[in-house]
Amino acid sequence: MQTPGRVKVVDLLKSKELGKVFTVKGWVRTKRGNKNVVFIALNDGSTINNLQLVANPADFDEEILKLVTTGACLKAVGKLVESQGSGQPVELQIELLELYGTADSESYPLQKKGHTLEFLREIAHLRPRTNTFGAVLRIRHAMAFAIHDYFNSHGFVYLHTPVITASDAEGAGAMFQVTTLDMNKPPRTQNGEIDYQQDFFGKHTSLTVSGQLEGELAALALSEIYTFGPTFRAENSNTPRHLAEFWMIEPEMAFYEIEENMDLAEDFIKSLVKYALDNCADDLKFLNDMWDKELIARLQAVVNTRFVRLDYTEGVDILMKSGEKFEFPVSWGADLQAEHERYLVEKHFKKPVIMTNYPKEIKAFYMKQNEDGKTVRAMDVLFPKIGEIIGGSQREENYDKLRARIDELNIPMKDLWWYIDTRRFGTAPHSGFGLGFERLLLFVTGMANIRDVIPFPRTPKNAEF
Ligand code: 4AD
Ligand code: MG
Repeated sequence: MQTPGRVKVVDLLKSKELGKVFTVKGWVRTKRGNKNVVFIALNDGSTINNLQLVANPADFDEEILKLVTTGACLKAVGKLVESQGSGQPVELQIELLELYGTADSESYPLQKKGHTLEFLREIAHLRPRTNTFGAVLRIRHAMAFAIHDYFNSHGFVYLHTPVITASDAEGAGAMFQVTTLDMNKPPRTQNGEIDYQQDFFGKHTSLTVSGQLEGELAALALSEIYTFGPTFRAENSNTPRHLAEFWMIEPEMAFYEIEENMDLAEDFIKSLVKYALDNCADDLKFLNDMWDKELIARLQAVVNTRFVRLDYTEGVDILMKSGEKFEFPVSWGADLQAEHERYLVEKHFKKPVIMTNYPKEIKAFYMKQNEDGKTVRAMDVLFPKIGEIIGGSQREENYDKLRARIDELNIPMKDLWWYIDTRRFGTAPHSGFGLGFERLLLFVTGMANIRDVIPFPRTPKNAEF
């Protein structure tokens, strides 16, 4: 029998072409029924919603119907009809069934609903088949698309920065080494150190912790650029907000001062959340009902609130006067922990906060120094449930000041000569920030653990899938 081409479930559920014959392909979520009728819920990942297939057992080989179990993959052909049951507008009255792959009901791990997220992490190769991960992965895609769309429509150039780098200039965290040397028998120099001159690049190299420094080079030519790529940090922090491999978006803009940088960060993140609300309604509703009853309300609140702008010094003041018992004590000069950030955002202001003018000692060398000699024009965007979602700053564009800070911190000039060259030739005020893509997804999906918003998480002692 000549069968029509495949239609996706998302499109069929919206179709008005009752009576017409369609082909669908997908994975069986459930099968139920009796001698007279069988109902198969089919999902092909195009939407959180399943298509109901209705079969008359008399029309099919008994053996085939037995093999239609949860997890099996099949092709079905049938007539679109108005659904008799509630829950879906239409269903497919099937006439033909072809099995692509069976899924033994004894051993298929996703037999029943209601697995814990911890269990699903252990079967990361199969968890995309669940409603939750289908929703998260579709939202992840939608956010990536919205990011490119936002920057494209604002005239930013997408810049690809290197994954392998020779400098640890960012100082953002421990790096993963990249080498082709035989680590059992590495070549040695005369004084016994490993001889990286014999390594692939003729020097010691690592995976990047940030594309910013290269991003600045391009911004000082193209005006506005952004990066969006994988980022690697070998810090041994086993928290629900840290990954060893994550994705970061780093816009960098010539001629932006810190205020314009803050305005951009706020507008950018609001427009992403709005995009999710406008385009991922079914998936958000599912996640809202399943995991976090305040998710959609929280997303709407962020879109409609002006973020608080707060000096670090004022923030520390509020925290010290709060009377709150923190695990880590607060004092001027100390780095803020997630508990402090969340206190300010969730309890004190009840709004996202952009904190600025941090002590220079706790921030990177490249941040623009303030007149007071103590603080720099850093800005962190702090979010409910997450803490820091964005870190950024205005950059030091003055050659002498930048050079002095680099020397003060004993950063070897051989790693950075190319970076500070931009301050010798046509320097300009400029600013930028980094948004952690998975931190954004934590916020947008309401998931509580960062391992559940990336398909295959890389964390300490975990790189199985
Ligand atoms: O604050 P960070 O370290 O800033 C930078 O790397 C700058 N170069 C950014 C820039 O100005 N262009 O990191 C930026 C963001 C953080 O706010 C956080 O959202 C995310 O990256 N991030 C992580 N996300 C997941 N796992 C980790 N280990 C992360 N470390 C940082
Ligand atoms: Mg930071």
